[in-house]
Amino acid sequence: MFGTKAGLFVDVFLLVQLLVLPALLVAVAAVRRGKVARHARIMQVAFYAFLLSVIAFEVEVRLGPTPPVPLWILGIHLSFALPALGLWALQLVRGKQAFLDPAAHRRRGRILLALLSATVATGFWLYAATY
Ligand code: HEM
Repeated sequence: MFGTKAGLFVDVFLLVQLLVLPALLVAVAAVRRGKVARHARIMQVAFYAFLLSVIAFEVEVRLGPTPPVPLWILGIHLSFALPALGLWALQLVRGKQAFLDPAAHRRRGRILLALLSATVATGFWLYAATY
């Protein structure tokens, strides 16, 4: 898709990563204007889009031929990506806590945004180093 050796779903995954951060910023802007339902919906849809594209990416990478991946970059990437995915799921499951303890919700939300930014940045680095 981008003129590299990467397969279709690897490129789709890259595109989703690029779109996810602006989508989350739109969700934060929505809640600041009092649109809580829109905030929660965007967070949910972005999570499932991310999850689906990760699964398609993993299937393609595991089943098809893949150039050697620099393992140290993969290690750095996963050290952001795995906690980010876990925290994202937790934040969605505990959505109601946003009303019971808004300060904690905001704090976790901001940690998640930072982790996701690092995940996307190191994801692009990994892509550039591999394909
Ligand atoms: C993983 C998904 C989510 C993330 C990353 C997230 C992130 C955030 C962030 C960063 C803020 C603070 C915005 C600011 O700077 O003012 C916030 C506020 C808020 N979020 Fe979420 N959120 C998520 C899911 C949800 C869900 C599912 C709900 C459920 C309805 C929700 C309800 C709220 C509410 C009510 C506030 C306002 C809290 C307040 O300041 O009084 N969020 N969220």
